[in-house]
Amino acid sequence: MDKVLVVGGAGYIGSHCCKALAQSGREVLVFDDLSTGHKDLCKWGDLVRGDVCDKAAVDQLFSEYKISAVFHFAAKSLVGESGQKPDLYWRTNLGGTMNLLNAMARHFVPHIIFSSTAAVYGEPDVELISESQNIQPINTYGRTKVACEAMIKSYAEAHSLGFVCPRYFNAAGADPELETGEDHSPETHVIPILLDAARGLRDQFSIFGDDYQTDDGSAVRDYIHVKDLASAHVAALDFLLAGGESTALNLGTSTGASVKELLQAAVRTTNREIQTVIAPRRAGDPARLVADATQAQKLLKWTPVNSSLTQIIDDAWRWHLKRF
Ligand code: UFG
Repeated sequence: MDKVLVVGGAGYIGSHCCKALAQSGREVLVFDDLSTGHKDLCKWGDLVRGDVCDKAAVDQLFSEYKISAVFHFAAKSLVGESGQKPDLYWRTNLGGTMNLLNAMARHFVPHIIFSSTAAVYGEPDVELISESQNIQPINTYGRTKVACEAMIKSYAEAHSLGFVCPRYFNAAGADPELETGEDHSPETHVIPILLDAARGLRDQFSIFGDDYQTDDGSAVRDYIHVKDLASAHVAALDFLLAGGESTALNLGTSTGASVKELLQAAVRTTNREIQTVIAPRRAGDPARLVADATQAQKLLKWTPVNSSLTQIIDDAWRWHLKRF
């Protein structure tokens, strides 16, 4: 059987997608350099260890295996780091994507699902962000993703590729069966940090800013369960296979939660005290980023069904206790 190639399949979102793809009957092949991913989370297909920026390694992969579609998750994705290391971000995110697109064109692989981000929108001053919102990234990470989306469009026109660029809002939670989950080092994401604090692995939790123009003063985000993200990726491939037109789609829940709401939910779920301080705003953090995800729901015939704050934090907590 042809394989679907999951580049970055040993990482957080990638590994959940591998599981969902395998469950949909696909044969999965993971390509990952394990720089941030984990070998033990590659459970749903063979792993070829390699760097997407290594053109020869990518070419060899496509020569060796019959690949029917590409899911591209391998990227540098920390907003703060992207400001300090533009070279790393442009080289990895653009270079890796270009290597894959060239190999796809040479080997006539027709479909790519490319991980994009809400960071392409910057700081829009709207309640719900739709895909027609201006693209105005305010950091290097977001800029590289905008450029990758543009690159994919060019290759799609020249080589008749079909693509979906899911723009993730805040991926969160863990596989409800605890076969995979979030494991970053260093961890910068709010939910695992809260859970670390609940377990005493950190002294305290810092709320970055309580003077935003939001109901409780803390920043609001759209947290979407990683299992829902994974099912959207499978649906995106099915959409392209059924002749759907290439597009970028917001993946979120259209509901916002503030940092203070997360804190309360984490205390409830863990039944532990979380020492908390108010800290200054983190540079580059917008007050509110919430998706208008109606387009994805309509085109992919998809709805997030695991994304209540309670389920997200409960799954993340059970994973945290198992993993760390
Ligand atoms: N936060 C805290 N304390 C912490 C950590 C985070 O208050 O210790 C706050 C942040 O200030 C922010 C919210 O929690 O308001 C969420 O922060 P995360 O770091 O978990 O996530 P971000 O919204 O900053 O970033 C995520 C992805 C990025 C992507 C962005 C797009 O991680 O890759 O969404 O919206 F670019």
